[in-house]
Amino acid sequence: MKVKKAIIPAAGLGTRFLPATKTVPKEMLPIVDRPSILYIVEEAVRAGIEDIILIAGRQKTAIDDFFDVSYELEDKLAKDGKTEMVETLKKIRSMANIISIRQKQPLGLGHAVLCGRPIVGREPFAVLLGDEIMISKADQETTTETLAKSFSSTGLSTVAAMEVPESEVHKYGIVEGDKNADGTIRVRNVIEKPSKGQTQSRWALPGRYVFSAEIFQYLEETKPGKNGEIQLTDAMLQLAKSQGLLASSFQSRRYDAGDKLGFLQANIEVALDHPELSQSLREYLRRLAQTI
Ligand code: G1P
Repeated sequence: MKVKKAIIPAAGLGTRFLPATKTVPKEMLPIVDRPSILYIVEEAVRAGIEDIILIAGRQKTAIDDFFDVSYELEDKLAKDGKTEMVETLKKIRSMANIISIRQKQPLGLGHAVLCGRPIVGREPFAVLLGDEIMISKADQETTTETLAKSFSSTGLSTVAAMEVPESEVHKYGIVEGDKNADGTIRVRNVIEKPSKGQTQSRWALPGRYVFSAEIFQYLEETKPGKNGEIQLTDAMLQLAKSQGLLASSFQSRRYDAGDKLGFLQANIEVALDHPELSQSLREYLRRLAQTI
C-alpha cells in the first residue's frame, strides 16, 4: 500500500528560539530564503505524499497562510513582471493538500500524532518532525522516500535511525535491535531519552517515521511516560512487539534545526549550495576563518 498522507506536528511553542518565536512560529523561521516547514513539506511531497496534516497549536495561522494564495502579492509581482516568483509561489501552494488540525492540549508528541487520526483513517502514513531538516540532492532518495519504500516492500512500519555518540544518546528516542541482512534493524526495544548506562545502543531517532494505522490503537492506550508526556516511542514499542518495526539508515544530510547551532549550520550549508550565494559566501567564510 502506498503512503500518501503525512503528519507534521507543529504545535510546539518554540521556546528554544525565543524571543524570535514569540509571534513567529518556529516552522516559519527561514533557512536562507524559505521557511523551514517548506523543506519538510518538500521532502514529503518527493516521497509521493499528497495530503499533509499539520497538527498546529495557537498562532500557527502563518503556516496555513504560507501555503495559501496571496492575491495582492501575486498580483503585484505579476504586474511587475516577476513571473518566476509568481510561478514559485503557485508551485508552493499547489504542491500538496494542507489540512490543519489543532492540538488543543500540549500532551506530548504521541498525542499530537493521534490528533491526525480522523484524517489518516486506516491508511499508512508518515510523520515528519519539523525540528529536523533533511536535505537531499536532486538525484538522492529523501529520507521519507526510503521509509515509504521499505513499508511498501516489507509491509512493516519503518523509522529512520542514525548513529550518535554516547554523549548524545540522552537527547533522543533510541532503538535497540538486530541487524537484518539488508542493513535495516529489526527493532526489539525503544527507549525515550535514556539516561546514562540505560542502553548500549547508539541508534537514535531523528524524527522521520512511516507507520501502519495500527500505531493509533497503541497511542490511544499509551499512558503519559517520560516527562509526563504521551510518547510516540512508547507506542512504537508496542507496535514493534505486535506487528514488528524496522529502523533504517538514510542518505540525506540532517540538521537539528530545533537547536540554534544546528539551525545556523543548516543555513550556512544550504546557502553554500545556493546559486546566488555560493561564491560570495565561500569567499566571506574563507576570509572570516583567518580572523577567528
Ligand atoms: C522527539 C522524540 C524523540 C526523537 C526526537 C527527534 O523528542 O520524542 O524520540 O528522537 O524528537 O528530534 P523532542 O526532541 O521533541 O523532545
